[in-house]
This record gives sequence, structure tokens and C-alpha cells, in this order.
Amino acid sequence: MILTEMMMKVTPIKNGTVIDHISAGQALNVLKILGIYHTTDATISVLMNVTSRNLGKKDIVKVEMRELEVGEVNKIALIAPGATINIIRDYEVAEKYAVDMPDLIVGVMRCPNHNCISNTDEPIKSQFLVKNKNPVVLRCLYCEQTITENIADYLI
Ligand code: CTP
Ligand code: ZN
Repeated sequence: MILTEMMMKVTPIKNGTVIDHISAGQALNVLKILGIYHTTDATISVLMNVTSRNLGKKDIVKVEMRELEVGEVNKIALIAPGATINIIRDYEVAEKYAVDMPDLIVGVMRCPNHNCISNTDEPIKSQFLVKNKNPVVLRCLYCEQTITENIADYLI
């Protein structure tokens, strides 16, 4: 195996999930969306501003010993539409797929409307319908308020 500059900087993992091609600067938001860093003792590596052939710069997140499921990773498309999920088994890429935005986003985004019932003390999870994927247009199921820009600002 040829030891390229890239490989020296980025250590392969044995088992787990690599989220690759994250838009530069969004790695911490990816962790926020996944909500895993306070619920797991898995080793998580975050690489920011890695030089990429196609993207210029990109971020990468590696979660060791856990195979993340499609349902939990697809929400990442909100802030990193080009992200790729790689499932690693015994150092090999066993599965690879692109994230695909779900039709409904539950409990991830805060409604911008302060009077929305999802912002009160009621035990209600926020729910947004995905009206458009690119550019992202979300509409609150409760009050019809839309989110069209600065998506990351509304992450819970
Ligand atoms: N990776 C890793 N540990 C491994 C194998 C792969 O951390 N044991 C990482 C690589 O560093 C890369 C991603 O998983 O960030 C995908 O690996 P691979 O498919 O080998 O890389 P590319 O061919 O560059 O992927 P793509 O075609 O999706 O750009
Ligand atoms: Zn609302």
C-alpha cells in the first residue's frame, strides 16, 4: 500500500462508520444532529478542513465500533447534502451510500415561530415537512412556518 499524505493524516478505523464528504465546517453540526457524543463511549474522530480532490475542503467524522443506521444518518442531509456514509468492517469499506433527505424531520429542528406549540412546555417534538430538498425548504407541521436558510441555526 502506498502511504500517501492523505493516509498519514487520516488513520483508518477497524470497525464503525465513516461520514465522509461533509461540507467544510459542518462536522460539529453533524455530531449535533446525530446526538451521539453524550450518549456513547465510542471513539469519535473529527477531521475538519481536509483537502479533497473534488470538494476543495471537507470534514470527516469517524465513529468507531458503531454501524449507524440509515434512519439516523439521513438527517445529516440537512446541513451536508453531499455526505457519504461508509460502513467499515475489519478495515474494509463494506457498505457505501449517499445520505438522502427524509420527508419528515422529527425532533431535530427548532421552529423559528416563538408562539409555535412545539416551542412551549408541551411535550411535543418539533416536526418539519421537507417541501424541497435542494435548496432546503422545511415547513413546520404545527404552525406552517418555513425554514429556508441558515438551517444549522435551528438545530436543537
Ligand atoms: N476509511 C477509514 N478506515 C478504513 C477504511 C476507510 O477511515 N478502514 C475512510 C477513508 O479515509 C475515507 C472513507 O472511509 O474517508 C471512504 O473510504 P474509501 O472508500 O476507501 O475512500 P474513497 O475511495 O476516497 O471514497 P469515495 O469514493 O467515497 O470518495
Ligand atoms: Zn412551528
